Amino acid sequence: MVLPLTAETISSGHLMIGGCDTVALAKKFGTPLFVMDEDHIRQQCRRYTEAFKNLNPQSEVIYAGKAFLSVAFLRIIVEEGLSLDVMSGGELFAALRAGVPADRIYFHGNNKSAAEIELALSADVGHFVVDSFNELDMLSRMAKSLDKKATIMLRLTPGVTTSTHEYVQTGIEDTKFGFSIAEGVAAEATEKALSLDNIELTGYHAHIGSQIFALQSYEKAIKILMSFMAEMQESLDFKACELDTGGGLGIRYKLTDEPSAIEDYARVVIDGVTKEAKKHGMKVPRVMIEPGRSIVGNAGVTLYTIGTIKSVADRVYVSVDGGMSDNIRPMLYRAVYEVIIANKASKKSEVMVTVAGKHCETGDILVDNVKIPKPDIGDILCMPATGAYGYVMANNYNRVPRPPVVMVKDGKARVIIRRETYEDLLRLEEY
Ligand code: LLP
Repeated sequence: MVLPLTAETISSGHLMIGGCDTVALAKKFGTPLFVMDEDHIRQQCRRYTEAFKNLNPQSEVIYAGKAFLSVAFLRIIVEEGLSLDVMSGGELFAALRAGVPADRIYFHGNNKSAAEIELALSADVGHFVVDSFNELDMLSRMAKSLDKKATIMLRLTPGVTTSTHEYVQTGIEDTKFGFSIAEGVAAEATEKALSLDNIELTGYHAHIGSQIFALQSYEKAIKILMSFMAEMQESLDFKACELDTGGGLGIRYKLTDEPSAIEDYARVVIDGVTKEAKKHGMKVPRVMIEPGRSIVGNAGVTLYTIGTIKSVADRVYVSVDGGMSDNIRPMLYRAVYEVIIANKASKKSEVMVTVAGKHCETGDILVDNVKIPKPDIGDILCMPATGAYGYVMANNYNRVPRPPVVMVKDGKARVIIRRETYEDLLRLEEY
């Protein structure tokens, strides 16, 4: 399924999510509209915690806030017992507003500013994931002046390539992220971290990429990370007690996609770490993982209204009332999606169309060549799997206001982010 857990088609042929008729949602809240299925989100959280805790009770599931984040949404994440990865002052601010316990926050980022570090130190965030020598120095200095101790992990680059888009590969050597193991920089960073005041190094972190289907990439990365940990134990007598293997599990965007199951992912990670620890004669570290997309991706859909249908040469352009301002993934990563007509969900797909946005840009194509039932102006077009990296990457190109986000559950819909207004778009201007 590419659709959320509770999706079904009712006798009128309308697509339902969370017990709500999506066509009625479109009418009530307008389009474009992000709809998120609360049951789906909770189910994914539980699958993750169960899968990992069953295999290793000390393990910790950290939701990667960059995939989707709002104050109301984060309350669900906290209720489900997950921790949180933030990577900017803005994400941290929302997390604190949502009441995420500070000790469950992991602060990432390859270029944290002094102001961000100060905010995080003052809030007593649980872990800093440190990405550079400069950050190490700054953190030690600032922690000292605020009379705090910063608990840190070092972000490492294990040099693993994954079969995903090059823009979302992060474990390779040529990347702005982390300390390279192969080049000896990770060892140098470990030595330095151990020597600094007001810093407590607990272990390591690596995130090898995103939208990963092949679990072998994790196996490979874990081998490299654990053997590095063994080396540090030997050369510096540093026994790392925590290992965060990042996020990245892929999801189904197209019906033909075959992502790995969360449960298999858990087995590969936990078994891999346990096996390698045994091999190197080390204590098994506490394992953390940071899923984002695989928790919220399939929980969300975007609803649009078809405004124009145009036949050109041998192509039919179906234009909708959103586009690259609410989903830039097709343009950035050539991401592909399925398309459903929400008011014709039980009709056969028979017409090949190109779904275009409303922006002043030729490349504003949401889906190229997709078969849908015969479209009509006014139809509600549904793009599944837009829950992750959709709203959070939305922008105001062409002064198009960002859509609202509605959370649905048991036949009820609540707005968790309201639609932006034209007034909102002017609110930063001085005139
Ligand atoms: N941890 C770290 C340190 C990360 O950098 C990321 C994602 C995650 C966890 C979560 O990864 P996930 O489980 O969501 O794959 N905008 C791109 C994805 C960028 C991912 C950035 N880092 C997209 O739309 O595909």
